Amino acid sequence: MSGDKKINYIVHPGGDKDQSTGSSMFQGEITVPGDKSISHRSIMFGSLANGKSEIGGFLEGEDSLATLQAFRKMGVEISDPVEGRLTIEGVGMHGLEGSDSALDLGNSGTSMRLLSGLLSGQEFKSVLVGDKSLSGRPMKRVTEPLARMGANIDTDDGTAPLKISAHNQLKGIHYDMPIASAQVKSCLLLAGMYAKGETSVTEPGVTRDHTERMLKAFGYPIEIEKNKVKIEGGSELSACDIQIPADISSAAFFLVGASITPNANLLIKNVGINPTRTGVIDVLKLMGADLSLENERMFGGEPVADIRVKQSKLKGIDIPEHLVPLAIDEFPVLFVAAACAEGTTTLTGAEELRVKESDRIQAMADGLAELGVNATPTNDGIKIVGGHINGGSVNSFDDHRIAMAFTIAGLVAKSEIKVKDCANVTTSFPGFVDLVNSIGLRVDIQDS
Ligand code: S3P
Repeated sequence: MSGDKKINYIVHPGGDKDQSTGSSMFQGEITVPGDKSISHRSIMFGSLANGKSEIGGFLEGEDSLATLQAFRKMGVEISDPVEGRLTIEGVGMHGLEGSDSALDLGNSGTSMRLLSGLLSGQEFKSVLVGDKSLSGRPMKRVTEPLARMGANIDTDDGTAPLKISAHNQLKGIHYDMPIASAQVKSCLLLAGMYAKGETSVTEPGVTRDHTERMLKAFGYPIEIEKNKVKIEGGSELSACDIQIPADISSAAFFLVGASITPNANLLIKNVGINPTRTGVIDVLKLMGADLSLENERMFGGEPVADIRVKQSKLKGIDIPEHLVPLAIDEFPVLFVAAACAEGTTTLTGAEELRVKESDRIQAMADGLAELGVNATPTNDGIKIVGGHINGGSVNSFDDHRIAMAFTIAGLVAKSEIKVKDCANVTTSFPGFVDLVNSIGLRVDIQDS
């Protein structure tokens, strides 16, 4: 875990460098690390399967490694990842062993919420803990429906630590999710595998469907009807090999970066383009971005493509609300695109952003204001008037995506940007600084 180590990024102003040297940044081909959501799920399903699963493209970031360690603590043999490849010796649906100590899920909300469902159905008790940010995030959204299924979970007033009791014969329920959350949906589907009878979940808006796709890949029957997913308890998972595509949420920093950088022309290889994740492409296209998909193909049950992005003149838009869950993790960097666009961009219907790794509406509004951008937060979104980005010192609030978004702002900033508390970038994007530096931005890492 990044623990207590504090680092800042010093981002040298990219635009000046480009003008003075005549060189172009954000050119050529890059690859970003594996998809975080799929990496978590590959460990979970591989561990519960009968037989050995081989995983490729696994994200060796702290979040997915926290999930990997949790399953090792529950007795699953998982090889050390080498360049994203690892093997899982599945123990079967009832083969996990209780851990003597708490499972530490670090910064990962996905890990905690999905595991709360999975572990509610086990014959041993579990305690789930996380770092300061995760310990402040809402868990009632999973513990309440799980309680209706018969789970017994003790929380600290709705937050972690989660103390999950043993020996529950869960019962299937129907749940109409009040919020569009893939984590809640997935939590209940995982619990549903251990429940008596049918569990079904209806979502109010389309959310990522990696759990459903992976259940199918591992041979577990599920039914999907429009916005409702149904699962029956008591079936088995059969080991399978999974090739994980590159994470579109990590690619997003480069989609925006290349869109705002003079002369940029970048090809991002093997990116997952599952339609429940491509809101960032839709929003950028509405803003006038020059993006095209090349070499579209399937990669282990998930669609992938190479994405070409060239600089373009962006314009402000009203972001359609149906795209919010489809771009939920990409808004910090989309706000940087809005700050560079001509006109005003308005986001509504995105109150969920306030309960991510940080309050992402406030964190971005504060940082953009520090950089001289006219950004007004609202309860459920933000209004950003495009213009120039100045230099300054911004706080990332220990949030990986805020830290990377402000680094990308450095591509067009008028002077240096200091981004504080960037250690958590390794939760989702190990190698981020090396990668941006390799294509022309200049970021120094400073101990603080
Ligand atoms: C995730 C779902 C999303 C997303 C998170 C990963 C997942 O959260 O923000 O980073 O892997 O299921 P919600 O489902 O809570 O919106």
